[in-house]
Amino acid sequence: MSKVIVLASGKGGTGKSTVSVGLAVALVKLNKKVLLVDCDSGMRGVDLMLGVEKELIYDVSDAVGGGCDKSAAIYVTRNIYGLYMMPAALSADDEVSPSVLRQLINEIKDDYDYILIDSPAGTGSGFEAAAAAADSALIVINPEPTSVRGCLNIRQKLTQMGITDARLVINRFLPERFNTLGIYRDVDALIDTAQTQLIAIIPEDVQIAAIAQRGESGQKTVPSMLAFNNLAARLEGENPPLAKKLLGL
Ligand SMILES: Nc1ncnc2c1ncn2[C@@H]1O[C@H](COP(=O)(O)OP(=O)(O)O)[C@@H](O)[C@H]1O
Ligand SMILES: [Mg+2]
Repeated sequence: MSKVIVLASGKGGTGKSTVSVGLAVALVKLNKKVLLVDCDSGMRGVDLMLGVEKELIYDVSDAVGGGCDKSAAIYVTRNIYGLYMMPAALSADDEVSPSVLRQLINEIKDDYDYILIDSPAGTGSGFEAAAAAADSALIVINPEPTSVRGCLNIRQKLTQMGITDARLVINRFLPERFNTLGIYRDVDALIDTAQTQLIAIIPEDVQIAAIAQRGESGQKTVPSMLAFNNLAARLEGENPPLAKKLLGL
């Protein structure tokens, strides 16, 4: 059975795209066939992170609008064997509707073990389309109150849409920054406030930021990879550590 997961966040810039790519690479290393769908119309970036931007001709709006065959909008990422990607529309005007995207994903999902859908921030129409096609969600937050509030908004919207399987990914965790912030007694207090079960803590990692911006994701091993590997293993039903030790928690 393939799993279709939307990556969401109430607040922008929490690292949805970076986490989508890191998780996709980790799943591929577990021999999973993965399709990463970029649903951030007008702000697409996954193609850049995977270094495939020069190859792109068609995108998700062509695939649903009959502008091309579905398979023509799916690109093989040569550097990462087993990882496929579908780019978002370049223009926000070409955003796809929830029902149309859900139909597209239903038609292709049996070809993959995992379909990860990277969504725009917030609970607007772009997020709705991405979530409508998914069975479960990963909510990506940074360990700070504005981001946690965004998580609660997303949870509410997901519940309205009938998606109850949502897990929390705390991204860009830096113990020193967390302690200096001093708002949460500890990570458990943060998780309680977010009211969402934790699945991963991804450390602040300048290396992942650098390789993603250079389009070299998947080609180099970065410090946060252990956390992405553990996240992938957890999705596979295993129970590896949450990398708390690594983070000095
Ligand atoms: N774990 C991390 N460590 C350091 N920088 C990160 C991490 N995750 C994301 N970033 C950086 O945060 C910024 C926003 O990330 P991005 O994935 O584009 O967020 P979003 O897709 O949610 O808008 C980028 O500059 C990215 O390199
Ligand atoms: Mg993004």
